[in-house]
Amino acid sequence: MPATTTTTGRGESRRVVVKSQGNVLDHLPPDVTIYEVSPRDGLQNESRLIPTEDKIVFIDALSQTGLRAIEITSFVNPRWIPQLADAVEVSRRIQRQPGVTYSALVPNRKGLDSALEAGMTEIAVFMSASETHNRKNINKSIAATLQEFRDTIPPARAAGLKVRAYVSTVYGCPYEGKVDPARAVALCHELRALGCYQVSLGDTIGVANPRQVRDVLSRVLAEIPTPEVAVHFHDTRGTALANILVSVEMGITTVDSALGGLGGCPYAPGASGNVATEDVIYMLEEMGVHTRVDLDKLVEVSRLASTLVGHELPSKYYRAAVGARGRALAQGS
Ligand code: HMG
Ligand code: MG
Repeated sequence: MPATTTTTGRGESRRVVVKSQGNVLDHLPPDVTIYEVSPRDGLQNESRLIPTEDKIVFIDALSQTGLRAIEITSFVNPRWIPQLADAVEVSRRIQRQPGVTYSALVPNRKGLDSALEAGMTEIAVFMSASETHNRKNINKSIAATLQEFRDTIPPARAAGLKVRAYVSTVYGCPYEGKVDPARAVALCHELRALGCYQVSLGDTIGVANPRQVRDVLSRVLAEIPTPEVAVHFHDTRGTALANILVSVEMGITTVDSALGGLGGCPYAPGASGNVATEDVIYMLEEMGVHTRVDLDKLVEVSRLASTLVGHELPSKYYRAAVGARGRALAQGS
């Protein structure tokens, strides 16, 4: 087993044993589904309230890019998330395209009733691996949340809905610090038993590194079938693409991301945007992993999103594409 010596930030040397994992690029899947969360995770974190009409135009434009799954809104208390107070109207008025799954967050039975009224066919419940973030975000203990889900998920399934789940703060909590990976494994089992078809493991505050991702996923995938696990990385510290590369190499084929790198959880201090959809698609497609998304069309939607939110988008690919277009125009003139 090769070993190397590394120097820590405090100038101390420590020996790190590195297990050989082979070439990570030898095991990539041929196809990955991008689960686009910008209309929900993105807009919930914007200070500007986007008019309903504009949200509908935005989601309809996303539907034309080849994306196969779009999370459009949340059926939560509008006093907590005023940005998404128009959930019913948005859900009713978007133009649903064949082959695209439309989903929305639902925290409880009341949210389920609204989602049914709005004609949703897929919902996502959400909770945290850490007790404090769970309380700050949904005002309940983890145990009370699971109890609430027992009154929400089975009726949703009985009504014909597909139910996805999020487990937040898997890699670290803004209030509690490090989180035991066993929490994620245990919650995956609970949520699966309740009827969720997939659990998305959230790095809510963007603290994960590739080695930690390998550790958590190897524990989860030892017990849960791979297609039932998705990954959701925020890019707060710039590690999201590296974390995604490790995830897909381990067999993960559903990756959450947000157009432009929008996003963040209002109840997780320091949380910044999701990994940008454009950046993920560029990386995967250039490596021969197909997403079926048309990146040029997507960039046009990014331009629209930037206008709607009223600021620049952090996506690196988007900035490069805008820069390249500007240079081409300047040369042509
Ligand atoms: P609560 O205040 O504890 O709820 O909120 P309650 O049951 O005590 O009811 C209080 C009031 O809320 C009542 O109204 C209810 O009707 C209303 P009142 O009688 O006072 O007028 N209420 C609702 N209204 C609309 N829709 C509902 C609903 N439920 C109750 N579904 C609740 C509990 C969960 C509702 C609240 O805490 C909430 O809305 N939280 C929002 C949390 C949220 O959306 N956070 C951001 C998304 S999570 C995230 O970003 C992480 C993720 O991206 C993954 C990752 O990055 O890790 C998914
Ligand atoms: Mg998120």
